[in-house]
Amino acid sequence: MSITVYVPRDAGALSLGAEAVATAIAAEAVRRGIELRLVRNGSRGLYWLEPLVEVDTQAGRVAYGPVQEDDVPALFDADFLRGGGHALAHGPTHDIDYLKSQQRLTFERVGVVDPRSLEDYRAHGGYRGLAAALHMSGEEIVQTVIDSGLRGRGGAAFPAGIKWKTCLDAPATQKYVVCNADEGDSGTYADRMIMEGDPFMLIEAMTIAGLAVGANQGYVYLRVEYPHARRAMEAAIATAEAAGYLGDDVCGSGKGFRLEVRMGGGAYICGEETSLLESLEGRRGQVRFKPPLPAIEGLFGKPTVINNVVTLASVPIILDRGAGYYRDYGVGRSRGTVPIQLAGNLRRPGLVEHAFGLTLRELVEGYGGGTASGRPIRAVQVGGPLGAYLPASRLDTPIDYEAFAAIGGMLGHGGIVVFDDTVDMAAQARYAMEFCAIESCGKCTPCRIGSTRGVEVIDRIVEGDVQERERNEVLLRDLCETMVAGSLCALGGMAPFPVLSALDHFHEDFVGAAGKAAV
Ligand SMILES: Cc1cc2nc3c(=O)[nH]c(=O)nc-3n(C[C@H](O)[C@H](O)[C@H](O)COP(=O)(O)O)c2cc1C
Ligand code: SF4
Repeated sequence: MSITVYVPRDAGALSLGAEAVATAIAAEAVRRGIELRLVRNGSRGLYWLEPLVEVDTQAGRVAYGPVQEDDVPALFDADFLRGGGHALAHGPTHDIDYLKSQQRLTFERVGVVDPRSLEDYRAHGGYRGLAAALHMSGEEIVQTVIDSGLRGRGGAAFPAGIKWKTCLDAPATQKYVVCNADEGDSGTYADRMIMEGDPFMLIEAMTIAGLAVGANQGYVYLRVEYPHARRAMEAAIATAEAAGYLGDDVCGSGKGFRLEVRMGGGAYICGEETSLLESLEGRRGQVRFKPPLPAIEGLFGKPTVINNVVTLASVPIILDRGAGYYRDYGVGRSRGTVPIQLAGNLRRPGLVEHAFGLTLRELVEGYGGGTASGRPIRAVQVGGPLGAYLPASRLDTPIDYEAFAAIGGMLGHGGIVVFDDTVDMAAQARYAMEFCAIESCGKCTPCRIGSTRGVEVIDRIVEGDVQERERNEVLLRDLCETMVAGSLCALGGMAPFPVLSALDHFHEDFVGAAGKAAV
């Protein structure tokens, strides 16, 4: 009987040597005359253990990691194909604490199934959401999504069902569904993991969205730096088409839905939905004025639903298990589960899917295991480059959209980047402003000019004497206020938050050499 071994083809695992490990396992098996089936799965999201090799045994899947090419002969010697003991063994995968304590709904199959196999997808509950949706009207599907309480996971946390309803109600013969897979936020990788590890889920989700609003064409706007996700998505789309899950007659329903992958423009602003549409139409990614909302006048001027990968990927399970099932997870107005992506200076970086309500501390100290350097945590940035830098005193904040807004933060796409006490927060503030200057689309003055002036003012604060520092601090706050109030989109409108939070919580770092001498 052939044994199944799983070695991820996830880009993160590949960057850590997974390809060489897969090749070495296949070669060693041939050398020893052992027949095995090598499945290239997605990542379980336990990145500190990647490349994580799993073996199907009678007791279920057993995990080994991080495995390097050189470890392979010793693993065979230790009889890892039957779950044998070894220094890299972690026992049954589902018993690893990091995974066991999570509440995986959207990521239930990621790392489990073979992303190239439609049969595997179906065997693990795939396409049940679409089967339910095919028996419902567009209005009923939209109402189910509204009832689930699902909010956009791309950053703005807008209720997904309300957006769908606006598009459904817009009279037009041609409508579109666009998936925002630009994933530009620092420390985020949930979208990539889904596309590489469970691509049929996104295809199913977009098909359901198409049925809901009356769109027969979808586009996945994919971050240009994601070639592995592109291959996984294109292979899955071709398979779904061949099996009748995409095309002019989805599952014999008489309704059509086609899907294409389009590569992004390589700029942070191309993740902003209206710039994305410009880019998708073949122009430079530049922000459009709103209104009109994309749901009414979007791609090529037609009603368009634009949602993030995680938002869409949450839909099949809602259709399959019901709005109430999903809504029962979470707290307050933050319903369901959220995939948090832990990054930065952490011992155990990785993806944690859990119901809203978990605290930042439980994530960075519990799951993350504290800093990799072993030094105290000084700051965490949640929500990407526009998120506030939070001090350690805020670690008891629950993961909840409203709780974060109350402390001047935001959850964004769920990325958390951790810094230890060696971080220079004035340099981080400068970096945040500089990021805005580099990535500004240039359409409005507060962002285009303000961000460049902001970098200069931060330099003057750090380099100046006490009087100059105080004068420039007032100027910086004034400038930030103008950017927040006067910018056309959230890039210029939110870039001040990391800057101001650094100034408020870590003021001592702005006292430069000249300032310190005068104090
Ligand atoms: C500067 C900027 C960059 C953004 N980048 C992304 C991105 O990479 N991915 C994403 O899903 N949303 C991004 N957004 C949010 C989108 O504009 C939009 O809100 C989102 O695609 C809507 O989907 P959702 O409701 O499912 O979150 C960005 C917004 C701004 C202002
Ligand atoms: S805030 Fe910046 S990125 Fe947004 S529209 Fe204005 S110039 Fe463009």
